[in-house]
Amino acid sequence: DDAPTSFLLGETRDLISSLPSEKGWLVSQIYQFQGRWHTEALLQGILTCQKHFKAKDSDIILVTNPKSGTTWLKSLVFALINRHKFPVSSGDHPLLVTNPHLLVPFMEGVYYESPDFDFSLLPFPRLMNTHISHLSLPESVKSSSCKIVYCCRNPKDMFVSLWHFGKKLAPQETADYPIEKAVEAFCQGKFIAGPFWDHVLEYWYASLENPNKVLFVTYEELKKQTEVEVKRIAEFIGCGFTAEEEVSEIVKLCSFESLSSLEVNKQGKLPNGIETNAFFRKGETGGWRDTLSESLADAIDRTTEEKFGGSGLKF
Ligand code: A3P
Repeated sequence: DDAPTSFLLGETRDLISSLPSEKGWLVSQIYQFQGRWHTEALLQGILTCQKHFKAKDSDIILVTNPKSGTTWLKSLVFALINRHKFPVSSGDHPLLVTNPHLLVPFMEGVYYESPDFDFSLLPFPRLMNTHISHLSLPESVKSSSCKIVYCCRNPKDMFVSLWHFGKKLAPQETADYPIEKAVEAFCQGKFIAGPFWDHVLEYWYASLENPNKVLFVTYEELKKQTEVEVKRIAEFIGCGFTAEEEVSEIVKLCSFESLSSLEVNKQGKLPNGIETNAFFRKGETGGWRDTLSESLADAIDRTTEEKFGGSGLKF
């Protein structure tokens, strides 16, 4: 564990080059590690995270598949846990001037960019997010009493959201890749962060087995009854609302309409070059209809039925 970072990076590169790999959509190669397909960059971050991250009992970790409501969940939980330090009514809330991704660090992304990053410097309680599967979480996350909030989204909406995100990020690289091929790869699980369904199921069962450790929420329920779900999250992470306290201000501040209209989310860029407006597209449920043909939607539905059959999960 005390090995210099340069040595670890060499070791990591050797490991990555020995893994099964595929030509991917969006990036030239994706690599299979512990059952999931990753970009090389994020895989480096995951390996460093597994080696170095030490969870604390007070940590709150937000977990999602990409494009499943990460930005929204980050804003909501940041606003929740800081509501006394940063009252929403004060008018100078950090979310008004900072993109949510800069307020809540993305663990494998930070470790990729700065392998020596010291997470112990984060303010208490530490709030972070990751896309790491349950199986691949750092040991200390599983063994500590830290809290995991998992947010899942309808796979068709998630795919469509990622499809448009990728096109915006890399218009040239994705231009010649037909959506039919992308859906096929998605259904086979050989797609960035795939297989989608296995990720969801791992956290779904973890939440059933250990409801004090893992809270399972969905983008759809968050949309339908935001206040109820936000109160449920607050209760779970130990900062429940009193009868008098209002949750509506936080919900309003973090709404798609509010966040997407802020200058910082219309114009800004993250340090990795991604434009902040790429995280705000439509913010709807069922929006897949304008991108997926009936047969492509059916292909995803069939996979969902096969994978989720018997689990109690439905979309
Ligand atoms: P769409 O592409 O369907 O619009 P992530 O944050 O995990 O990257 O997911 C991005 C998706 O969440 C995008 O979906 C985006 O528009 C939506 N989103 C971002 N902020 C949101 C908010 N405050 N409320 C609801 N949806 C939001």
